Amino acid sequence: MYDKEMLKHVLSAYGPSGREETASEVIKSYVAPYADEVYNDRLGNLIAVKKGTSGKKIMFSAHMDQIGLCVVDIDEKGFLRVTNVGGVNPIISIAREVVFKNGTRGVTFFETEKGAKETTMATLFVDIGCESYEEAAAKVDIGDMCIFAGNFVEMGNKISSPYMDDRIACAALIEAFRTMKSEHDVYAVFTVQEEVGLRGAGPAAFAIEPDINISCDVCGMGDIPNCVRMSVKLGEGATVKAMDSSVIVPVKVREFLKNAADKRGIKWQNEILRSGGTDTGAAQRAGKGTFSGCVSIPTRYIHAPIETIDVRDYEAAVALLRAAAEEKELPRV
Ligand code: CO
Ligand code: ZN
Repeated sequence: MYDKEMLKHVLSAYGPSGREETASEVIKSYVAPYADEVYNDRLGNLIAVKKGTSGKKIMFSAHMDQIGLCVVDIDEKGFLRVTNVGGVNPIISIAREVVFKNGTRGVTFFETEKGAKETTMATLFVDIGCESYEEAAAKVDIGDMCIFAGNFVEMGNKISSPYMDDRIACAALIEAFRTMKSEHDVYAVFTVQEEVGLRGAGPAAFAIEPDINISCDVCGMGDIPNCVRMSVKLGEGATVKAMDSSVIVPVKVREFLKNAADKRGIKWQNEILRSGGTDTGAAQRAGKGTFSGCVSIPTRYIHAPIETIDVRDYEAAVALLRAAAEEKELPRV
């Protein structure tokens, strides 16, 4: 069984891109007891290290930032105007609850002169219950960011929550890190600013110079009504990425992951993400280049505040990350 309390805690920690400090502290509290060293780098990436004896380094990376909204203006009636932090669809951002770091809560809506379907970031606004500019400005400043509030909804084997992207992978990496036994130095990196352009993983990989990086993120699926064709299904296991728009994973790295899974009876599926990049690509291009691959957790409704995963895939991802760390032979050029 998985650690549900840890998962809920990690899913709900505040941490939009560039403001990951709270999420970093929460994650640190779970990995520190199992690490030889834990630190944040200059960008804010959280890095937990377990020392091995092989002289090899394996890096795992999961991004801890989340998409959100950033305040650009406050009007005379106290309504907030916002812009997106990362890939936020304005139409599915209306009629939502949001929360700021200081606990200020609000709700979103759109200018009703036009239809909901025509909502853009420019016509979306946040109502924090204030009646004047002064009252609102006392609670929220220009540049502050809010995230979508939401619940942890259990539906059989499925769980829905905002920010499965990518906190479900952060939780999987926490679970794997605290139970893995590796001969290699293991670097568990919880990266910043993935959602705004894969900004954290590259500098982390540059500094660590791992023999291999395995990122862990969410990926899409093809098992909901009338969606774009994709072979990935919820409940069929963690995925081994072949390609996304940031990376083509070397065959040797894919074979390494598939063999590690097959030896232990871990369920996996092949994944090709038609659009969207991941830290996998940023790590691949860091320094002189890094062997880089990715294990993903199939997710429905990515970047909507009801992202849905299957617990069995989560557990398979934990097992596969642990398996990769426990392999004696890492892929070589
Ligand atoms: Co994302
Ligand atoms: Zn992600």
